Amino acid sequence: MTSLKDKTLIVTAGPTIEPIDPVRFLSNHSTGKMGYAIAGVLAARGARVLLVSGRTALETPQGVERVDVLSAEEMYRAVMERFEASDGAVMCAAVADYTPAEVSPVKMKKSDDDLVIRLKRTKDIAAEAGRRKGERMLMGFALETDHEQENALGKLRRKNLDFIVLNSLRDRGAGFAGDTNKITIIDRAGEITEYPLESKTAAADRIADRIEAWFAARG
Ligand code: C5P
Repeated sequence: MTSLKDKTLIVTAGPTIEPIDPVRFLSNHSTGKMGYAIAGVLAARGARVLLVSGRTALETPQGVERVDVLSAEEMYRAVMERFEASDGAVMCAAVADYTPAEVSPVKMKKSDDDLVIRLKRTKDIAAEAGRRKGERMLMGFALETDHEQENALGKLRRKNLDFIVLNSLRDRGAGFAGDTNKITIIDRAGEITEYPLESKTAAADRIADRIEAWFAARG
């Protein structure tokens, strides 16, 4: 299939790793599976895909160009360097919201006291892409535990996205580690489409269908 031929799409995937000292870090349980599946499907449909990936155990999907990063700051830079020349981005990464305010250059020693680590906010990559968006397609993800659709729609508006894909933690089989996902796609017009529980590859196909239709509608 070559329906996305001539399109350059950035996909972010996986967790970020925020260093505390040379041997310790803060991170999350993202495996990158959903983002890698999307990258693979978009490439199979003819797009040039730049996969900006946090640390994962996954193989690069066929035809995909992968850029490895660790921290939220590195992911921000890798995406922003490539965003202007792209036709859009799918922000699937689980980016840390906070990172240690200071990184110790040496391994921190323990003491008998408790330890407080001050965290500072990271940059929101999707929101910055939203500000620079122009005619580009922008898709984000939301993992919500309550008021799911309302929160997801709020994120779509705040980050200036064309689509937000909602993963509900309430749905069994959806979310981080598994091979299945149950997604709901909300578009800019506020239209909500719920999909059944299915494999992450099948969900990636649904997502790619929506992206393809978005570009087709713009000629
Ligand atoms: O605000 P929240 O983190 O729930 O938004 C999730 C969406 O924003 C996802 O698409 C995620 O990849 C993106 N995001 C980002 N940079 C951040 C935080 C979230 O790109 N620092």
